[in-house]
Amino acid sequence: ALSCIIPAILAYLLGSINTAIIVTKIVTKGGNIKEMGSGNAGFTNVLRCVGKVPAIITIVCDFLKAVVAVLLSNVFMWVGVAVFTSIFHSNDAQVFLATNQNLLVEGTSICNYVAGFCCILGHMFPIYFHFKGGKGVVAAIGMIFVLDWRTFLIILGIFLIIFLCSKIISLGSLICAALYGPITFLVTYFFEYRNQTTQILSLTYVFIVSAIALLTGVVVIIKHHENIGRLLRGEEKKIKAKK
Ligand code: G3P
Repeated sequence: ALSCIIPAILAYLLGSINTAIIVTKIVTKGGNIKEMGSGNAGFTNVLRCVGKVPAIITIVCDFLKAVVAVLLSNVFMWVGVAVFTSIFHSNDAQVFLATNQNLLVEGTSICNYVAGFCCILGHMFPIYFHFKGGKGVVAAIGMIFVLDWRTFLIILGIFLIIFLCSKIISLGSLICAALYGPITFLVTYFFEYRNQTTQILSLTYVFIVSAIALLTGVVVIIKHHENIGRLLRGEEKKIKAKK
């Protein structure tokens, strides 16, 4: 349990490092991104109000922090296993791990999803910035990238099609957030559960990770409530980078 809780806390603390707030403060010599443009502390608003280079720094750092949060969780699980086997230095420990290998693989993956989710929560409600952060889209893309490359490619493809057609980032974010849970279910069901070579994963596992993905999508959508209002009123603007 500790191998899951500690990385989840670390992921939240890592997610709380909101790049948009820090980069804007440095580039504009004290400016507050939350008082500019849409008021959101994220990549899109930095691109809109601060500039292209600060926006690239924001997208790279927010993406990477989610990747690191999930990788840390993975490392923690295997460190936990190593500690377990060294404490219970007996055949029993080896036998226990060998017979419960499927639980270990599933548990590690579920903890990785939890860490990714906590990183996004950190980004949205950062402990260092009065719990007012971004909308979690870039961090979610980083989480999806490291958790499942197939889901990542599908989500990225859908996002790019919507964005290229509409030039509205929030529209792409919202549709991908809504589809993340269902796509995770389809991908884990067909490529992992039904895949004969990796039959180790159970249907319960498929439902748990899909539920975490669904929840991730829901929090991202809730954070976009102002964008939803603007989209419905036809007032959401196409993205224009600051020159
Ligand atoms: O990155 C968040 C995006 O989906 C919307 O951002 O600034 O247009 O509210 P913004």
